[in-house]
Amino acid sequence: MNVLRFTDVAATGFPLGKRVFIRADLNVPLAEDGSIADDTRIRASLGGIRLALDAGAAVLVTSHLGRPAEGALRPRDSLAPVAARLGELLGREVPLARDWTRGVRVAPGELVLLENCRGNAGETANDDQLARRMAALCDVYVHDAFGTAHRAEASTHGIARHAPIACAGPLLAAEMEALGRALAAPQRPLAAVVGGSKVSSKLAILRSLAGKVDRLVVGGGIANTFMLAAGLPIGRSLAEPSLVPEALAVMRAMRERGAEVPLPTDVVTAKALVPGGIGVVKRVADIAPDDLILDIGPETARYLADELQRAGTIVWNGPVGVFEHDAFAAGTRAIAEAIARSPAFSVAGGGDTLAAIAKYGVEQGMDYISTGGGAFLEVLEGRTLPAFAVLRERAAH
Ligand code: 3PG
Repeated sequence: MNVLRFTDVAATGFPLGKRVFIRADLNVPLAEDGSIADDTRIRASLGGIRLALDAGAAVLVTSHLGRPAEGALRPRDSLAPVAARLGELLGREVPLARDWTRGVRVAPGELVLLENCRGNAGETANDDQLARRMAALCDVYVHDAFGTAHRAEASTHGIARHAPIACAGPLLAAEMEALGRALAAPQRPLAAVVGGSKVSSKLAILRSLAGKVDRLVVGGGIANTFMLAAGLPIGRSLAEPSLVPEALAVMRAMRERGAEVPLPTDVVTAKALVPGGIGVVKRVADIAPDDLILDIGPETARYLADELQRAGTIVWNGPVGVFEHDAFAAGTRAIAEAIARSPAFSVAGGGDTLAAIAKYGVEQGMDYISTGGGAFLEVLEGRTLPAFAVLRERAAH
């Protein structure tokens, strides 16, 4: 990885007594009552924060929370609940600093959380003056916000241009390494499972993966569009007929490389998607005009599960059925368990995917679970994340 790493900077002893500014992604989901619904991102950020504290640095940590209007933070935009949870996890008081861009008091060995950085005018526009002010607060800038690495904002990008030292935190480094191992230099065969409702939202991913993977397993509404492209009946199922040419192009690109897009041979259908509904397993050829395809069938699930045991690397994003409903969850469960069982190096990411992993309790079987949503998808699209690119530029000069 051709960026400077904070672990290496810390190993030199340089941060002792210095000011270390960590941009984390502490953008956690909040419940109605303002409490934290899932603290995964806070826990994932602890490594970088502890490293800085253990190195004797004066530590400044910031993150965005939501998408507030700049210059007008409302109480519900505050990182206060994050400061409290961070304090519990670290076993120390974590003060929250407001109006921090012109200076913050923090002693070596201490940690201050800087209020929602998207409250600062110019943050999302990557304003250079703001970025310079933030850079002036520190001796070392640590980018550890993989979940926000696809955004070129003042605290994720501009600051990295101006800080005396700019480096990747341990979480960002681990994410980029896992994704690099899966996509840049994979152990083959490389299988990707791409589920979800719409081809349109994953078109760039499908196109990019079509040039890389050996098996492209499509699921959910995406599979319906591919089935339509293959001339199979799909009844009234969710699909995007206007994207049939794109689906054909993906299948053609895969075929030309000797790779494959395996389509379902059986599916679970219903006449309507209603809570407590019952699914009917059908051969693909028997799908009726008024059927909705809501999951892959047991034969398809078995076939794909076997294929996944033979993979060297697996990348998973998106469920293969409407797994929120028990009647249409078996396919996603089978895929989740097959990936967990497989000896392949497996990487998973994306909101629905993480929900499926948690629902089926297969966390331990995944080699890497990404903390990124949009950032993870952009890496699958083959894009270079701007926050990573700027660290690379800094490392080169
Ligand atoms: C996310 O939740 O995906 C990241 O924190 C990025 O948030 P954003 O989409 O508001 O930039």
